[in-house]
Amino acid sequence: MKIVRVLPILTFAVFCSATAADLTGHWVSKVEMADGHSQETVFILKQDGASLTGKIVVNVSRETPITEGSVNGDTVSLTTTFRAGQNQRKVVYEGKLDGDTLRLKATSSNPRGPSEFAGKRGPETAGDPRPYIAPPALHPVKDNGLARTPPMGWNSWNHFAGRIDDAAVRGIADAMASNGMKAAGYLYINIDDTWEGDRDSNGVLRSNKKFPDMKALADYVHSKGLKIGIYSSPGPRTCAGYEGSYAHEDQDARMYAQWGIDYLKYDWCSASRIYKDTDMQAVYQKMGDALLASGRPIVYSLCQYGRQDVWKWGPDVGGNLWRTTGDISDSWNSMTKIGFDQSRLAEFARPGHWNDPDMLEVGNGKMTDTEYRTHMSLWSILAAPLLAGNDLRDMSKDTLDILTNREIIAVDQDSLGKQGTRKRQEGDVEVWVKPLSNGAQAAGLFNRGDREAKITITAAELGIKGKMKIRNLWTHKNETKGDQFSAMVPSHGVVMLKISR
Ligand code: GLA
Repeated sequence: MKIVRVLPILTFAVFCSATAADLTGHWVSKVEMADGHSQETVFILKQDGASLTGKIVVNVSRETPITEGSVNGDTVSLTTTFRAGQNQRKVVYEGKLDGDTLRLKATSSNPRGPSEFAGKRGPETAGDPRPYIAPPALHPVKDNGLARTPPMGWNSWNHFAGRIDDAAVRGIADAMASNGMKAAGYLYINIDDTWEGDRDSNGVLRSNKKFPDMKALADYVHSKGLKIGIYSSPGPRTCAGYEGSYAHEDQDARMYAQWGIDYLKYDWCSASRIYKDTDMQAVYQKMGDALLASGRPIVYSLCQYGRQDVWKWGPDVGGNLWRTTGDISDSWNSMTKIGFDQSRLAEFARPGHWNDPDMLEVGNGKMTDTEYRTHMSLWSILAAPLLAGNDLRDMSKDTLDILTNREIIAVDQDSLGKQGTRKRQEGDVEVWVKPLSNGAQAAGLFNRGDREAKITITAAELGIKGKMKIRNLWTHKNETKGDQFSAMVPSHGVVMLKISR
């Protein structure tokens, strides 16, 4: 009796979900974000009864499989997991078909993308990768003559990420020009990702609402005696999902030059959906050529996370610096994992061409000042670019003192242009040495351990016969001359010395 009553209801439910709304297809949702740039999401769905499979393609650059998908009555639910570096973020979309529109809401935070979607049926090609454009054959790009010492300046990403705008950049330029940083050698004000708007019908890229007039902003930064940098990707979209330079390399380089841009960071990001890793050199060369052809001196910063042994070909594509690692974060672990792993790359650094272990986190708040002094010292020993990554309008005196220690900066900026290396390691103690001009050497006595440690350095290991003349670069005092020197170094701290005969 019971079965007979239930069966018609079951049959009706299955019938409804299978036929009332077959969601199989490509659902394209374009959303204009608050800053004026648009984000495209394509839900590529295959419906089989009450189950949905398929994938989600964001900005033609990132695709992730749907791990769970269902239709229940008129309710649609999709789950996917986005990967950002080491992190994974599960996003659930829920909603229903409303006439010809698939309306979905992301129920968990989706910081780089919209939270509401209105998908219309699109062609079967919607969401396909943009076509491969064969990059020109390899040839050496002429050295632009810039960055004879590692670039110094500031970059917006570490502190501001997507919250950077025209007013903040002007404020940072004001601060740098007046707080002693410019006088200490800081020069570039670099706008990272999220300045980009959309292209017009001629393909010309416009800045978004946060940056109403790039030329005027560049003029302002120049009026302070500083230089200005910008950011793009060889892919169709940047890592934060904004417009990239794919198929517009020459046009973009010309526009940077017109605006008065002095520095470009070029970030692989979505290029990975179009090109193979083995195309990287040729793809970076394309923008290297375009920057040279623009006629304006523009520092060229490669950002592809140290893949494909970039240090071997970075100079050939016109690169002045190249990232050697993934992204830094404001933590002792991240900073030391990156910084202490750079010794092996020393031979590739030279005037005009530098290894870039990523921007500074000094003053961003999650390390102690002792740790930030270690960060600043290690980056200087590495002849790394010194790009402050904090809010220069609002920092403590201690942070400013760390960033503007001229004796430390002089190690980084030394005209010999040699990167330092690890001389010795005993457990948590590391001694790093960088050759300086006029036969001097910088020595960093680093203590990575949890307890204070006594660290000794000898004249013999530095190849010095007789006594060492020793300058302590954080206390700004001369130490007693001798054939050996010992210091008590605090946990996570450093003693930085300039040693000469
Ligand atoms: C990548 C880069 C970062 C930053 C962001 C911006 O993660 O490595 O330095 O430029 O993109 O989206």
